[in-house]
Amino acid sequence: MPVITTIEDLRQLAERRVPRVFYDYADSGSWTEQTYRENTSIFEKIRLRQRVAVNMEGRSTRSTMVGEDVAMPVALAPTGLTGMQHADGEILAAQAAEAFGVPFTLSTMAICSIEDVAAATKKPFWFQLYVMRDRDFAANLIDRAKAAGCSALVLTLDLQVIGQRHKDIKNGLGAPPKLTPANIVNIAMKPRWCFNMLQTHRRTFRNIVGHAKGVDDMGTLADWTHAQFDQSLTWDDIDWIRERWGGTFIIKGILDAEDARIAADKGADAIIVSNHGGRQLDGALSSLTVLPEIVAAVGDRVEVHFDGGIRSGQDVLKAVAMGAKGTYIGRAFLYGLGAMGKSGVTAALEVIHKELDTTMALCGRTDIKDMDMSNLIFPHQIPQPLGPGAWGETIAPAAGKAAE
Ligand code: GLV
Repeated sequence: MPVITTIEDLRQLAERRVPRVFYDYADSGSWTEQTYRENTSIFEKIRLRQRVAVNMEGRSTRSTMVGEDVAMPVALAPTGLTGMQHADGEILAAQAAEAFGVPFTLSTMAICSIEDVAAATKKPFWFQLYVMRDRDFAANLIDRAKAAGCSALVLTLDLQVIGQRHKDIKNGLGAPPKLTPANIVNIAMKPRWCFNMLQTHRRTFRNIVGHAKGVDDMGTLADWTHAQFDQSLTWDDIDWIRERWGGTFIIKGILDAEDARIAADKGADAIIVSNHGGRQLDGALSSLTVLPEIVAAVGDRVEVHFDGGIRSGQDVLKAVAMGAKGTYIGRAFLYGLGAMGKSGVTAALEVIHKELDTTMALCGRTDIKDMDMSNLIFPHQIPQPLGPGAWGETIAPAAGKAAE
């Protein structure tokens, strides 16, 4: 058994074990991947304030997200094609989340259906909705989520058109994928994945195929999204969705304070500050950059949740200290799933929890709910012992001179 101490360990293992077409799908951002990269790199720029000689006993990472108790403020994000990272992936991830005590969110674009996941779990999970042109189908999805006992509906608003991820086109992404010679060779080199996949009958988009009129085959994901997702959706449509659902309602994909205000006006219980993991508008700001202004705009009216770039418990801690009531991990749990199935998702949650708990203690806090901006040090607050720009002025010109 490999020793897992970081999310990066799981990523490397997943990269070896999951067919390239699906690993790339999870791991890519859109176009130049600038936003995708900045989602993670921004975390490094924010430092933590160390405090000592604080009684650290009896620590708690427990909190609530939309009124539900959580072992730590980290939910599993809705991710498409999760059941292609590992056979029955959504079921395994939901079971791992349930055992750990954090929410699991099932994507519309899942491989396992709402009913599959409900049958395999005991606690209610959350359902993420994309609105299709066929409104009857969207309404039917809402009704199915209600019938399955889902405890929150997460409406995603940032994917009416799909941001281009170059590798998906080159790899012939779909479920099933295009059987190009490269895919056949690559999939044949993943015996563990193939063996598990042959044990399940869940190999297509089971929320959709057989439920949406005339959809028996999805072709490529991008073509299908283009044909089926409702590009005409506006804020005016939110009311019927919220009313039809009638329960806890979360709006995902907010990156702008004005949109956050509208979402709050529309009666959302929570919003998720998100740029879709850098997979949609390339060039958009990182989620963490906009978090404070959105918290300032609506934090007293709705819960502000956060996703984008979280790969560690330290990252969770920073987002929480900046005002996020809850956070979501996407790739971080998918790496675990691709690496080792259910135990890999558990490992991802354990890694993040341990990092979160220990880092919180070293910040001199014993309750995650007490973390705030005073625990953070932003770039402009970092002392410059030799004066502003001192390093650049003394080191760079000297190196230049030596080269002359
Ligand atoms: C769908 O949610 C995607 O980002 O591919």
